[in-house]
Amino acid sequence: MTSLTYNDDILYFNSKNILQIAKSYQTPFYLYSENIIIDNLNEYQTSLQDIDSLICYSVKANSSMYILSLLSKQGCGFDIVSGGELLKVIKAGGDPTKIVFSGVGKTEEEIVMALDQNIYCFNVESMSELYRLNNIACDKKKEAKIAIRVNPEINIDSHPYITTGMKDNKFGVSQTEAMAMYKNALSLSNIKIIGIDFHIGSQIEDANPYKESILKVLEITELLKKENISINHIDIGGGLGIKYEKENISSISNFIENIVNLLSKTDLKLIVEPGRSIVGNSAILVTRVEYLKKTNTKNFIIVDAGMNDFIRPPLYGAFHSILEVVNKKIPAETYDVVGPICESTDFFGKERNFKVEEGDFLIIDNVGAYGSVLSSNYNLRRKPLELMIINDEVQVIRSRETYDQLLSNEKTNV
Ligand code: LLP
Repeated sequence: MTSLTYNDDILYFNSKNILQIAKSYQTPFYLYSENIIIDNLNEYQTSLQDIDSLICYSVKANSSMYILSLLSKQGCGFDIVSGGELLKVIKAGGDPTKIVFSGVGKTEEEIVMALDQNIYCFNVESMSELYRLNNIACDKKKEAKIAIRVNPEINIDSHPYITTGMKDNKFGVSQTEAMAMYKNALSLSNIKIIGIDFHIGSQIEDANPYKESILKVLEITELLKKENISINHIDIGGGLGIKYEKENISSISNFIENIVNLLSKTDLKLIVEPGRSIVGNSAILVTRVEYLKKTNTKNFIIVDAGMNDFIRPPLYGAFHSILEVVNKKIPAETYDVVGPICESTDFFGKERNFKVEEGDFLIIDNVGAYGSVLSSNYNLRRKPLELMIINDEVQVIRSRETYDQLLSNEKTNV
């Protein structure tokens, strides 16, 4: 739960009156709290302060320019997966020597861009990628530092769409393939082996599934030692979850403590790539009730946000709490909360109780991660406004897309 409290029946987010904000800006909008993001990062930093480590915030969770600048100012590194993310991190002031580049499909163009920036490490996901990287690095007379992403082939209890460390996933390589890749990498002129990497999935409750993965990966590092291949770092990916409903999620400090204990007998530098646990609980989506619609079988609240603004409930069946901005003294009724998009999947919550009237505001909680980044122009809707509470003041960190922007970039004369 984000920091939401009712005060005189009005909902406050991070001590700010949401009703006032909703009346001052056109809904729907994301509202973030800078303090929450900083607190989450601080918890990682404090837990890791005594060990050789690097926090690489996973940009895909939320690539807002403001958030990237904020994190880079606090000394954070970045985990990127595209040329776009690389450029944005650099523009936001991120230090390229603290960037790791993940992803199964790095293009030549993206590899060139990353080599030009002298990034810290490429997390290599296939033999073909290793050869491509070496060839490009040769042409550019650069050295590419690499870690091999190993697939630990473990099952985790998360939505099938967000697990990545199971046998049938496209991510990483088997332990046998990893050994073959490391041996090959030794003979490649422009590759320097520096680490080993894995990422097992997202919205994971505690360090337990990491234990199995770390043990498997350490077996590989032992085998590598015998081949005189030394590894400096282990990158355990991201994945720590947040509490959306009733989940029992380990705190960041507890999670890190467990990971550090698992690595205590090694001298490996630890890299973590958290996304959701840094930004997930830092934002709410504020939306207006346009219509109340009652059919013979169901009641609907039709709000002005749609699945183009926030798609987690339909895409992953994800639960997000939805609250009234004003706690009215009227009888509660049961509703599905839906948007204006012409799809039956356009919902935010089903069978929930609300005391609302048309024109009221609702908030959808915990939307900071995989929220605005997954927004689209479907139904030709403009991407939403984003606000942030910065030093107790509400500031626009991204304006709503304009209709001009929406209609640009296309050939118009037939
Ligand atoms: N590192 C790698 C290589 C990743 O693929 C991911 C996320 C992360 C780090 C960050 O994971 P996190 O700490 O945020 O769990 N859209 C889905 C989640 C997809 C996660 C993709 N990879 C959702 O809304 O639940």
